[in-house]
Amino acid sequence: MFAVYAKEPNADDPLSSLVVGERPDPEVPQGWVRVSMRSASLNMHDIWTLRGVGIKPDQFPMILGCDGAGVLDDGTEVVIHSVVNDPSWHGDDTLDPKRTLLTEKYQGTFAESVVVPSRNVVPKPEGMSFEEAAIMGTAWLTAYRMLFVKSGLRPGQTMLVQGASGGVATALIQLGKAAGMRVWATGRTEDKRALAERLGAHQTFESGARLPERVDAVFETVGKATWSHSVKSLKPGGIIVVSGSTSGPDPSAELQRVFFLQLRVTGSTMGSRDELRDLLSYVDLAGIRPQIGARLPLREAEQGFSDMLHGATAGKIVFTL
Ligand SMILES: NC(=O)c1ccc[n+]([C@@H]2O[C@H](COP(=O)([O-])OP(=O)(O)OC[C@H]3O[C@@H](n4cnc5c(N)ncnc54)[C@H](OP(=O)(O)O)[C@@H]3O)[C@@H](O)[C@H]2O)c1
Repeated sequence: MFAVYAKEPNADDPLSSLVVGERPDPEVPQGWVRVSMRSASLNMHDIWTLRGVGIKPDQFPMILGCDGAGVLDDGTEVVIHSVVNDPSWHGDDTLDPKRTLLTEKYQGTFAESVVVPSRNVVPKPEGMSFEEAAIMGTAWLTAYRMLFVKSGLRPGQTMLVQGASGGVATALIQLGKAAGMRVWATGRTEDKRALAERLGAHQTFESGARLPERVDAVFETVGKATWSHSVKSLKPGGIIVVSGSTSGPDPSAELQRVFFLQLRVTGSTMGSRDELRDLLSYVDLAGIRPQIGARLPLREAEQGFSDMLHGATAGKIVFTL
């Protein structure tokens, strides 16, 4: 079948291991289902995979793609939940020590079809397009958990999103605005800040700029480049929710501020299947139209990867089949 995959890890030149080609049709193990893909979306995770981060060398070649939407053999339209748990696990899907994301051990969604355990699909809301549904399973789910499960923020409080145009960042802005938060965002260019304002941010700032006042919560996926600013932007007792470190994982911890102002720092990863259901319902009920920055046929995937690698994003990059 047609697929986009990583042939081997390449830490320095990730795009050179990207292949647009053919892979064997998947077999469907008992208790799993086949999803004929309609749309899938690109995440930074796919670039980490090309670099060999978070995947063992013997797992290559690996079809890329951590999320997407498609149709089961019986015609049901579904969204894929990418967190695959050990069959014996009970409890929060994201806390299973043996969990894996699609593309770490099992083949991903950038293909004509993918197989996943039957509990890893949830029904697609009727009013949501396949393209919109294809961006829910990773970036939007991560943003949902950061905001509604981890931050403890109440409507009316002020949140700062580091980054304006990324997949997780745009989701945070749209979800926070719809929930009644005061949404502030930083962006590296005027275009990116204008996008954040169109999506509902009440105010935007250049990366690292001093804010008019300190905020209740900061949402971090950037890491080294913005961490110090995140800590300095918080009110006493405020919280940073961190789910990524695109610019590097080794920030100065700003420990003096953390203890003196009694700040809280908490990690967040993906979300559970129940949270994915709740996210889909929320987006549907609130009438949110999730931001898609680029739509490309899967055959032109390389363009999308290159744009993401070079920071040329305006929301999610979606591939169609
Ligand atoms: N833990 C999880 O479950 C989980 C799930 C999803 C994503 N993540 C992680 O979250 C991160 C973002 O993923 P994504 O898919 O949203 O990626 P993306 O769409 O490529 O977005 C990248 C974001 O990072 C910002 N950024 C990058 N470098 C920066 C720098 N040097 N200074 C300031 N801002 C910078 C960009 O800001 P501008 O808008 O200003 O360009 C943009 O908002 C990745 O590290 C990813 O691995 C983790």
